[in-house]
Amino acid sequence: MTTPTSTPPRGGSKTRRTRVVVAKANELPVGSRRILKVGGREIGVFHTSAGLFGMRNSCPHQAAPVCLGPVTGTTLPSQPGEYIWGKDGEVLRCPWHGWEFDMVTGVGLYDPYRHERVATYDVKEEEGEIVLYA
Ligand code: FES
Repeated sequence: MTTPTSTPPRGGSKTRRTRVVVAKANELPVGSRRILKVGGREIGVFHTSAGLFGMRNSCPHQAAPVCLGPVTGTTLPSQPGEYIWGKDGEVLRCPWHGWEFDMVTGVGLYDPYRHERVATYDVKEEEGEIVLYA
């Protein structure tokens, strides 16, 4: 677990997000992740082949540490008998029971109409640093 340094949001933003410097950009290469505590919440910061993502480390099923699960892709909606792989690097699979979540929206892929999701957070690279807004 990483202890982040944080500063107030830039530019006089009226949002209450906390700006957290997670690491220098070269310390979080593609394929890596960090889990840190921000305001009592555990948040996973991921650098995948699809970009940077932030997700709360709690699965909506039984509260497993979902951010310890594998990052993958999934089969996309398709015709019967067709198997189309997609969303590579944008899917997080819970390590306990395998539920999958879209890392862009946090929505569970097993049934998007149940409206179960993992909270997501903005993560950006700014001036050589990976920054989380939580
Ligand atoms: S706790 Fe995550 S799928 Fe069950």
